[in-house]
Amino acid sequence: MGKMVIYPGSFDPITNGHLSILRRALTIFDAVTIAVASDPMKKTLFNLEERMEMIRESTKNDDKVFIEPFSGLLVDYVAGKNTNIILRGIRALSDFEYEFQLSLMNRKLNRNIQTIFMMTDYRWFYISSSIIKEAASLGGSINGLVPEIVCKKLKEKFGFQ
Ligand code: COA
Repeated sequence: MGKMVIYPGSFDPITNGHLSILRRALTIFDAVTIAVASDPMKKTLFNLEERMEMIRESTKNDDKVFIEPFSGLLVDYVAGKNTNIILRGIRALSDFEYEFQLSLMNRKLNRNIQTIFMMTDYRWFYISSSIIKEAASLGGSINGLVPEIVCKKLKEKFGFQ
């Protein structure tokens, strides 16, 4: 197997912004493993199985994409894999501080692991899982911002047709 990268997150739910980073990563790496935090610090709307199912459905035609849950420290999970690279997407400047802190903490925990960043495409600059959930919960249209399956699951969750 060639070079693989780990793309971690809570993916609650996965958005077109995540998918754009994923597709671009596949032009650099031979494979991407999407590592889904099984129990992230923030409370999730979707449980682990639901979050993984939406990712599976959104990436089903790509045999270079793997999806796995992880728990505990991200660096410990990565250390057990066949790579030492973590990929994160950055949107606005506001993401920078958190990502900087996260990558430095991860570096302190394990110096062999490298974090690389990709800038989000301008089309997805303003979206986040939270803002998608807020709009969907109030009946707003989120078409074109998330994969079809996510649109459907959000409508089900909030009781809209
Ligand atoms: N386009 C648009 N939006 C994007 C995006 C993109 N390309 N990439 C990320 N986002 C948004 C997401 O929608 C999400 O929005 P939200 O904050 O409204 O929910 C936000 O950016 C980040 O979500 P996500 O990409 O899913 O990652 P995360 O920040 O939830 O993931 C972990 C954090 C899981 C990687 C981190 O907490 C972790 O490693 N936890 C394990 C414990 C650990 O090792 N901690 C670190 C050392 S102590």
